Amino acid sequence: MAIHFDILTLFPGLFAGVFDESMVKRAREAGLATIALHNIRDYATGRHRITDDTPYGGGGGMVIKPEPVAAAVEAVLGEALGTVPVVLLTPQGRLFNHQVARELSRQRRLLLLCGRYEGVDERVRELLVTDEISIGDYVLSGGEVAAMAIIEAVTRLIPGALGDPGAAFEDSHAEGLLEYPHYTRPTVFRGYAVPEVLLSGNHAEIVRWRRRQALRRTWQRRPDLLDQARLSAEDLAYLRELEKENQSTPSQVATPDDLCYT
Ligand code: 6GU
Repeated sequence: MAIHFDILTLFPGLFAGVFDESMVKRAREAGLATIALHNIRDYATGRHRITDDTPYGGGGGMVIKPEPVAAAVEAVLGEALGTVPVVLLTPQGRLFNHQVARELSRQRRLLLLCGRYEGVDERVRELLVTDEISIGDYVLSGGEVAAMAIIEAVTRLIPGALGDPGAAFEDSHAEGLLEYPHYTRPTVFRGYAVPEVLLSGNHAEIVRWRRRQALRRTWQRRPDLLDQARLSAEDLAYLRELEKENQSTPSQVATPDDLCYT
């Protein structure tokens, strides 16, 4: 159940070192993930190996030419063309999240095409791209950092990539909730003690406390996630408690209404 990533980029130097440490390094050493970097410029022809040009119709910025990108995708995939997802990294893509990471982790091979400048010639998308992914609603100068994020998120879901087999399952977002808070030694740090329950040795109580902390955090910070989360009857009862608490103790935080001058 290993995965191979092909990265197509105009800036391979941006990837220096990022896959040579920590989890991705271990996954590569264990043969669970392999990563090949390809410079799109190597597939450009002519004395200057030009990879971009001005947009038809005018306007600012540069557009990546279709020929070198198509040549790179076709050369890298060879016979595998048509069987391997060709993922264009673009702010116009579908939003990357844990679900998408899981979906991609089931592939044996992925080609990640890093866009740059104003974009890639539309015909590359029409002819070769099979999927488009964005890592969030903000603009990066190119898809390289997005490719790094995707490779990290996908690789850690490959069975064996994390030391603890349960780690990926218990992670934040795996169950649709944010994670509970973590503590290690010392028991008291600058007057702040570790919650008693975690020192109790009562495993059932610890599991319950952690679940409630995860629910509380998600409710406070990312209530949108609760709609999709898998919640038990006990979870729902706890969330109702939180709602009640909240109604009886009005927040001190200013709401937009408080800040309106009328
Ligand atoms: Cl995948 N690319 C670029 N250029 N900007 C982004 C992005 C991708 N995801 C969020 N912003």
